[in-house]
Amino acid sequence: MCGIVGYVGQRKAVDVVLDGLRRLEYRGYDSAGVALVADGTLGLAKKAGKLANLEASLDEAGLPESTCGIGHTRWATHGVPSDRNAHPHLSADGGVALIHNGIIENFGQLRGELEAEGLHFVSETDTEVAAQLLGREYAIDGDLTEAMTRVCARLEGAFTLLAVAADDPDTVVGARRNSPLVVGVGEGEYFLASDVAAFIAYTTEAIELGQDRIVTITREGLSVRDFHGNPSEGRPYSVDWDLTAAEKGGYETFMRKEINEQPTAVADTLRGRIDGSGQIVLDEVRMSDQDFRDIDKVFIIACGTSYHAGLVTKYAIEHWTRIPCEVELASEFRYRDPVLDRSTLVIAISQSGETMDTLMALRHAKDQKARVLSISNTVGSTIPRESDAVLYTRAGIEVAVASTKAFLTQLAACYLVGLHLAQIRGIMYADEVKAVLDELVATPDKINMLLKDMEPVRDLARASAEFGRVLFIGRHVGYPVALEGALKLKELAYIHAEGFAAGELKHGPISLIEAGTPVIAIVPSPRGRSLLHDKILSNIQEVKARGAKVIAVCEAGDDITGVHADHVIETPASPTLLAPLLTAVPLQEFAAELATALGRDIDQPRNLAKSVTVE
Ligand code: F6R
Repeated sequence: MCGIVGYVGQRKAVDVVLDGLRRLEYRGYDSAGVALVADGTLGLAKKAGKLANLEASLDEAGLPESTCGIGHTRWATHGVPSDRNAHPHLSADGGVALIHNGIIENFGQLRGELEAEGLHFVSETDTEVAAQLLGREYAIDGDLTEAMTRVCARLEGAFTLLAVAADDPDTVVGARRNSPLVVGVGEGEYFLASDVAAFIAYTTEAIELGQDRIVTITREGLSVRDFHGNPSEGRPYSVDWDLTAAEKGGYETFMRKEINEQPTAVADTLRGRIDGSGQIVLDEVRMSDQDFRDIDKVFIIACGTSYHAGLVTKYAIEHWTRIPCEVELASEFRYRDPVLDRSTLVIAISQSGETMDTLMALRHAKDQKARVLSISNTVGSTIPRESDAVLYTRAGIEVAVASTKAFLTQLAACYLVGLHLAQIRGIMYADEVKAVLDELVATPDKINMLLKDMEPVRDLARASAEFGRVLFIGRHVGYPVALEGALKLKELAYIHAEGFAAGELKHGPISLIEAGTPVIAIVPSPRGRSLLHDKILSNIQEVKARGAKVIAVCEAGDDITGVHADHVIETPASPTLLAPLLTAVPLQEFAAELATALGRDIDQPRNLAKSVTVE
């Protein structure tokens, strides 16, 4: 959600900034803009729509030759996507330009104050308030860092801000509260960006900034301070993936590439995570073994696809550890007064590590003294930083807006956490844990096998495209997989898709079935809980009797399901609890193909942002 880039160095700033914005496109946006400074001039260009619109307008904008600038892709919150509302925004005298990610909650009050002083606003955005305030403060002493510090003291809400001033052409000042901002360190050049993808083509050296920090970059160096003006430092780290990881590598879309990266991503997430005594090695632990033993309740908080990973995890945790586990949408969690204390473990799942709903739920949990363990794909992001323990998924950068490899790696990490809890609390014997781990480690090869035979899934997807609605049903861990299949299809194809607990159909949703309605049924292994298998076969018959066309995702060799369903998609055999690592994969491919058949942009679906940094 909103991409932010700032640069100062020797290169042509417009090229670096546009390149960075292009690499942040995956975050989702609906307008874009840049501001460049050189020799007392500030040049600005901004346009609604994709980056191509902005690029087409650059000649006319007459931007100065510059080695210092900022750029922004905006995901609209306050004010429609338009040229006027696009960032950067200018101060009243046009001498300062500012870009922003987040929401300034007290913007109404601040705008009233500035208007009373006679300042005129040209946009409907909350951001322009920060630009006008910064201009006013900068006029006092001509020090952009000091001015930014005073502005931050006035703002409420979540924000990343970057600003440049016409008469300080070698400086970019940034600020962050609850919104992402990382520093890239090159030779004689510095970058500020929402994430490292923006500058990975130039440097892999980065600095993570703490909460409530102001950072100033010039060609000579950088300085960090807190919101009170006290000097501070960031945490340097090296990014361990390179540019090729952020490019399509021969695939037509990032989503297709990422679906195919899943065997490696899951294997990487498992690799080296079990020590000699069978204990899981967490990346960052500020909890003792005794803390883990004292846990008497688990809450999982997450949004969207990560929430679905949490739903699967509930089955595993309760089965393996016998600890009660609840899963809750992060956006609902803190508003219903959940009962938490020191012996509650909250597991926060977030690919980006920046999702505001999840972050706020995490903080609520910590306020109640609960322990928080996060599962994230983004090293140094806010959610892991604020957690007591962290297990990073190793999916690599996920560019397509729709999560695929992030989902599978979250499942793998969650299984590890469940087994860790079971072992540390002595509920499972070491050999039982090892048996599950062996199955887990065998899964990447099975995903690979599955991916080799996707053509029948694509055929079924294209054949279902004309219907305009697809329903998904499942039981047990197949239910969250049904929800995930439906979410993928909704977000990519913009058609009605819904996932149901198969047993619930007869309580209402079965009335949606009409002749030809495609229904995808996630069928559990007949070798697992055979009762579950029998029950879903009954549900398949119920929908078939009403005219549905049933596609069953079932285990290879499950001949009984083949008798009942119109089509089967076979997945390699797997223990019941681990099956989502396999059954989710054909549903991702189904959604991608059906959406492609409808002419959709599967990497950047409309209205969506990759990293949702507003509540
Ligand atoms: C769907 C999707 C979203 C995210 C959700 C949470 O394909 O990607 O539903 O799963 O926005 O994002 P994270 O995991 O970054 O907190």
